[in-house]
Amino acid sequence: MTHTQGAGRASIGVRILGSGLCLPEKRLTNADLEACMDTSDEWIVKRTGITERRRADWDNGEKTSVLATKALREALSTAKIDPSELDLILVATMTPDTPTPSVSCIVAREIGAGNIAAIDINAACSGFVYTMNVADTMVRSGMYRTVAVIGADCVTRHIDYSTYGRGAAILFGDAAAAVVLRADDNPGVGMIAQRMHSDGAGSKHLFIPEHCSDFPDPDDFDERKLDKVQMNGQAVFKFAVSKFQQVINDTLEDAGLTADDIDHFVCHQANSRILESARERFGIPEEKLLVNIHKFGNTVSASAPLVFEELRRAGKVEAGQKVMFLAFGAGLTWGSSLWQL
Ligand code: COA
Repeated sequence: MTHTQGAGRASIGVRILGSGLCLPEKRLTNADLEACMDTSDEWIVKRTGITERRRADWDNGEKTSVLATKALREALSTAKIDPSELDLILVATMTPDTPTPSVSCIVAREIGAGNIAAIDINAACSGFVYTMNVADTMVRSGMYRTVAVIGADCVTRHIDYSTYGRGAAILFGDAAAAVVLRADDNPGVGMIAQRMHSDGAGSKHLFIPEHCSDFPDPDDFDERKLDKVQMNGQAVFKFAVSKFQQVINDTLEDAGLTADDIDHFVCHQANSRILESARERFGIPEEKLLVNIHKFGNTVSASAPLVFEELRRAGKVEAGQKVMFLAFGAGLTWGSSLWQL
């Protein structure tokens, strides 16, 4: 197996043409959480860095496909691409509106993309990073030319906003963000190294049970937990710190680069302390690893592309840069996607 680019058609590159985002209007601040559970702003900020997150109005139709469609419309507009030019839509999500149709099929319908290929990919918080690797490979194969990659999740509907569920309730928010990719004559642009990993044995640390048989330990069953995020915070924290650092290290090694060669580390925002540990380990300056978790919390698949979009809007993304997308999450999953812009 190779982790670097070159296995596909050597003559095709992949360029990121534009990006966009969609955030629900409703804000859920730490003060709002203090009002419905036993917690405090001080505790949340100290342990996670989060001060507020967004919450989609799911019951009134603000579902994952709605956020995903809005994010893609914006990305198409910044890319100056008409929906009819797309030939593939990939949506990273673990919270589709319903089991079927897929979010990608709904998005294709809503933007009027015609009968193009539409696929959902579920790798939880690693979804967008995984999907960027899949998209790059599909473009370089020569089969697809213009591809939308969307990270969209509305995970707050799987949260118990009471003291019983406070461990996970403080962390998560809803959002969507998208990029539009196109085949390029310069084979040097696009993904240059990647890693994708999983550890199903660790799934017991982060899961959403639908039935009592979904509990790895039957003694843990409690009706209040059904359909809600179940998380062993300390186990996930340890996994995230170690795998996050390992995947950065492996990707740099695969690409023959050092951390100094990377212009932006675009990281999944799960906890500011996890990001800080990676910054310290690799000596990454603050301006190269944007942290926006305080505003949005952990938005699952939307998390990394939200960071990318914030950087783009600030005028900090330029052709010629090297950008490493990084994420870890339920599954367990973790991965990287290193791009030459
Ligand atoms: N408010 C106040 N107190 C809380 C609380 C909350 N929201 N959640 C838990 N506590 C309490 C616990 O009950 C416990 O009390 P006790 O000592 O009396 O038993 C104490 O705080 C410590 O709990 P613990 O779970 O050990 O806290 P922690 O330092 O591990 O922080 C997390 C909890 C969730 C913030 C942290 O484990 C974490 O960020 N883990 C990673 C989660 C993650 O990244 N998930 C997504 C991956 S994609």
